[in-house]
Amino acid sequence: MLGFTFTSLALAATTIISGTLAQKFPNQSAPYNLKLLSDEPTLDGKFLSACHSGAAIEQLCVSNTAATTSGVFYLNTTDSSTVSGFDTGVLVYNLNYGGDANLIASSALRFAFNPATNVVLSYFQPGDEGTDIAIVGLDAESKLFIPSYVDDVVTPNGTGLFYQWHVCNTQFGSYKYLALAWVTYGAPLDGDCKAVNVSAVPAAV
Ligand SMILES: *[C@@H]1O[C@H](CO)[C@@H](O)[C@H](O)[C@H]1NC(C)=O
Ligand SMILES: *[C@@H]1O[C@H](CO)[C@@H](O)[C@H](O)[C@H]1NC(C)=O
Ligand SMILES: *[C@@H]1O[C@H](CO)[C@@H](O)[C@H](O)[C@H]1NC(C)=O
Ligand SMILES: *[C@@H]1O[C@H](CO)[C@@H](O)[C@H](O)[C@H]1NC(C)=O
Repeated sequence: MLGFTFTSLALAATTIISGTLAQKFPNQSAPYNLKLLSDEPTLDGKFLSACHSGAAIEQLCVSNTAATTSGVFYLNTTDSSTVSGFDTGVLVYNLNYGGDANLIASSALRFAFNPATNVVLSYFQPGDEGTDIAIVGLDAESKLFIPSYVDDVVTPNGTGLFYQWHVCNTQFGSYKYLALAWVTYGAPLDGDCKAVNVSAVPAAV
């Protein structure tokens, strides 16, 4: 369905691990678990957990509990990027790539757009570089939003906070999961997708 190649991944990971890459979003929040809020009873109150979707790639899968390692995330920001008074930046997952807990590849959430659908898959990959980075923020209720300076529905005047998260039966490469996606506009073309909000709750680590 979605054919991605990540040929630059090994190089990118090496660069990050050797610490030579400047971080665009250096201020890291306290740890969070990500809890789902939804009118769909089978999803409301569930959590999101990183699930393997390829070499150093994870999606956000639905989980019954707040997993201790794979369920811990951060918001990385800079003090120069705010929308409607909220800091914006990247959602981060620390991928452990060795037996040692200190061996982590800090990975930012990205979007995999497919021009044939309004359902956009989300996935983590090491670093915070690239045009596919998902810029996000947390609102006053700690709900994860996507900021935009252009809202095509009310344009060209608006700054907006958008909450078009859905849980869908995704296929990313050969990996099939019940996972977090984004719907660009309107009802999801995949009718199995359910609208959710993603609430950041303090994690005990
Ligand atoms: C997030 O911030 C931490 C602390 O500065 C940094 O080590 C990490 O590389 C950052 N991650 C990303 C993806 O920007
Ligand atoms: C990180 O946060 C501190 C405290 O809010 C702030 O003083 C500093 O300027 C921030 N640094 C960056 C690079 O955003
Ligand atoms: C943009 O303008 C329209 C028409 O005046 C208004 O209804 C809408 O609320 C505005 N949007 C924002 C985000 O200010
Ligand atoms: C998500 O939160 C936003 C902002 O509070 C709200 O407008 C929207 O209806 C919520 N969506 C769902 C699926 O609960």
